[in-house]
Amino acid sequence: MNQTMELLLNRKSIRVYEQREISEEVKEALIAATLRAPTAGNLMLYSIIEVKDRAAKETLVRTCDNQPFIARAPLVLLFLADYRRWVDYFTASGVEQLCADEGRSMRRPEEGDLFLACCDALIAAQTSVVAGEALGLGSCYIGDIMENYEEHRDLFSLPRYVFPICLLCFGYPTRQQWERALTRRLAPEYVVFEDRYRRFEPEEHEEMYRDRQQEPVYGQQRSARGAKNLAQLTYTRKFDSDFAREMNRSVRAMLQAWVGD
Ligand SMILES: Cc1cc2nc3c(=O)[nH]c(=O)nc-3n(C[C@H](O)[C@H](O)[C@H](O)COP(=O)(O)O)c2cc1C
Repeated sequence: MNQTMELLLNRKSIRVYEQREISEEVKEALIAATLRAPTAGNLMLYSIIEVKDRAAKETLVRTCDNQPFIARAPLVLLFLADYRRWVDYFTASGVEQLCADEGRSMRRPEEGDLFLACCDALIAAQTSVVAGEALGLGSCYIGDIMENYEEHRDLFSLPRYVFPICLLCFGYPTRQQWERALTRRLAPEYVVFEDRYRRFEPEEHEEMYRDRQQEPVYGQQRSARGAKNLAQLTYTRKFDSDFAREMNRSVRAMLQAWVGD
């Protein structure tokens, strides 16, 4: 099979890494590929912080829902949705005056601009995941970086119009991780539609998740939580979890700071 397809079809999240440094050349190659990611209007509405500081990594373990492997990852990249760079450039380059001459005030980034910047940052992040795989590196997203906005803002000196949308841990996978089975996905008919959106009937939901419900791990988790099915388990473990509540609180706080009064 074509090597790129093989790589894409076999990617999996890697959370245990060999204690092996990632060379500067490999990091440079990873970043070079990342910066070639598509970007809305070629604006590059994102920034990346390499988290090197040990204490900062330890803080992230705690603030990102207690995930110790973050501190053990040889490379940790924080992807930021970033409109600050453009707003500063506008301000430094007479845009306010231009607007005043036309009798209006300079528009500030709004919700749509934030979504666009998040798209840019996530597309860059996923490009780095694929580049990492091509360079022999495994990776894992940390979505919990959207929690604790105020603490992350202070930790990384993030100004207004900068939001940490995802964190990526990279490292050379241990053999055991490399050999782990792929996780399941929904069959294409449940995800890819023709011409219009499709909702599903209860029996179809049952069929959709039948193979996942049969996995021993789900059986164990279900009985531990007293859930009757995967929907109840997912609701209690993820959707209605403390971390989901904190993420929503944190994103609301960021949105308030982003949009302002
Ligand atoms: C937006 C996003 C956030 C994620 N956050 C976490 C996380 O905080 N911790 C973690 O261990 N994995 C995280 N993951 C990895 C998913 O759990 C993983 O992709 C999913 O279980 C499927 O497994 P696979 O990537 O091995 O196929 C995240 C993935 C995405 C795309």
